[in-house]
Amino acid sequence: MPEPSGYPELDALLPRLAAVATLDDPALEAEEIAILGRKQGALTAALRGVANLTPEQRPAFGAAVNQLKEAFTLAFAARRAALAAGQAARTSRDDLSMPGRATWMGGRHPVTQVVDEILAIFAGLGFAIAVGPEAETEETNFLALNFPDDHPAMDMHDTLYLETGVTDPARGERVLLRTHTSPVQIRTMRAGPPPYRVVIPGTVYRKDPFDASHAPGFAQIEGLAVDEGIGFVDLKGTLAHFARRFLGPDTKVRFRPSFFPFTEPSAEMDVSCRFCRGAGCGPCKGTGWMEILGCGMVHPSVLEGCGVDPERYTGWAFGMGPARIAMQRFEVPDIRLLYEGDMRFLSQFGRGAR
Ligand code: PHE
Repeated sequence: MPEPSGYPELDALLPRLAAVATLDDPALEAEEIAILGRKQGALTAALRGVANLTPEQRPAFGAAVNQLKEAFTLAFAARRAALAAGQAARTSRDDLSMPGRATWMGGRHPVTQVVDEILAIFAGLGFAIAVGPEAETEETNFLALNFPDDHPAMDMHDTLYLETGVTDPARGERVLLRTHTSPVQIRTMRAGPPPYRVVIPGTVYRKDPFDASHAPGFAQIEGLAVDEGIGFVDLKGTLAHFARRFLGPDTKVRFRPSFFPFTEPSAEMDVSCRFCRGAGCGPCKGTGWMEILGCGMVHPSVLEGCGVDPERYTGWAFGMGPARIAMQRFEVPDIRLLYEGDMRFLSQFGRGAR
């Protein structure tokens, strides 16, 4: 829109310039002739007024007329193009009222969200991330972790063995799908001298039925801290801090005695139920508590077997199941929902279809 020129006969046309964008077809054509027409057009008439001006006044007036003429020419062309586009849309067979096609956007799986969050909390405490293979030997998965080679604890894990031809069970040579992430404790300690502060995410396998609360393959996160002068108080303090960061500042924790061959003493850590805050409800089965991890002080024979002097170094370890935690957090009633890849389920946890 040009600025007012100061010439009243030209400025009087500005409202008509603004109105061009509202005109429909016969009116648009009529207005074009009325403004730009060679004989009777308003601008042509205005140009004639130049005869009443002095030679000095003429160039400025002529320039103002030309500027306005150009503005009208552009406005008519733009309006004609807009009307043509609208016409095309009306006559095409596209159904503009049809909903758009969904574009699929990836999102993080609920278990991955929980794993990432847990790793981030421990990263903030100075823990590095370590990983290990899913196919392990009986030696690293069991024997180095202080499972006696004939102990029923080995059956307790319902191990899936792989057929590899290497089969000296006495030397722990049989190859299996790891039943927990604890063998990565062994690999970490054998790889170099202490101190160690690592968290270990990974998938583990057990010959379990695939039902509402069991899956034959599931995620674990292991933790290991070994240094001089580390005691059970460090284990409790660190894991209580973790629980409050992860579940909220008023989360309570309690430790119950437990047993694992590779830790002594061993414990299960429970957290106060975040749904009922301890009163007792469905998700916590009326107890007010939820079990989230197993832990304990690393057994001296495990340290020794990895070449770490148990007289000088002590440490603690934990293991937890992020799928269980995701189920508690998101109130998922059946673990199989986490494996089925059903978008109706998954799109509730982040960006799904848009
Ligand atoms: N590995 C144990 C399990 O799978 C958990 C655990 C890890 C317990 C570390 C104590 C220390 O049940």
